[in-house]
Amino acid sequence: MGIQISPSILSADFAHLARDIEAVSDAADWVHVDVMDNHFVPNLTLGLPIVESLLKHSSIPIDCHLMIADPDRWAPAYAEAGAGSVTIHAEAAKAPIRTLRMIRAAGARASLALSPATPVEPYEDLLGELDMLLLMTVEPGFGGQKFLDVVLPKIRRARELIKGRDLDLWLQVDGGVSAETIERCAEAGADVFVAGSAVYGAEDPAEAVRNLKALAEKTVRPERPIGFGRG
Ligand code: DX5
Ligand code: ZN
Repeated sequence: MGIQISPSILSADFAHLARDIEAVSDAADWVHVDVMDNHFVPNLTLGLPIVESLLKHSSIPIDCHLMIADPDRWAPAYAEAGAGSVTIHAEAAKAPIRTLRMIRAAGARASLALSPATPVEPYEDLLGELDMLLLMTVEPGFGGQKFLDVVLPKIRRARELIKGRDLDLWLQVDGGVSAETIERCAEAGADVFVAGSAVYGAEDPAEAVRNLKALAEKTVRPERPIGFGRG
């Protein structure tokens, strides 16, 4: 699939979500929707009814990141509603294999997220159940936090595990991803990048998405100057 950018609407205007999704829809591959329940994380955002509404108004697929205490109960409903990708947290799921399989059975991409202090190695045998692995590069809960460099070695190890098993599995990073940090993430092996404040804090969000994508692509294919690739 190559490099993909998923702008997080956590940093958009919550009174104009459809408009703000539209603003990036030509440049972005996904739109990232952070569902927070004030239990798994201290913050509270939105839930299934709003995602269902956004699905009717978004021309790009929705990437749902569930930061909720009971993903086993709720995740399949997001997939059934039509989300293109549904991510559950390893720290919250009590039956991750069952839940991931239910997400896939409902037609969405199944994804597992690991908070910064959660090691990837215990999940090695689960990688075949996943379409995407999300490695958080901030503590989940809020936008605009500082990127945690300490996660970079884990990104590298995760990429090695994926390569070793020859899996078609996307590796997403989320938190503090910006023009300053995206190259480090891409170099370590990430290929799907969530960015909230770096996109919606910019004067031109679509341009910010294109810029982030170009930086990541330049890092993984330095031999191909931007705009002069062989396609
Ligand atoms: C944080 C969320 C992120 C958040 C990222 O818990 O999962 O998706 O929107 O925001 P930035 O890019 O501003 O760090
Ligand atoms: Zn997120």
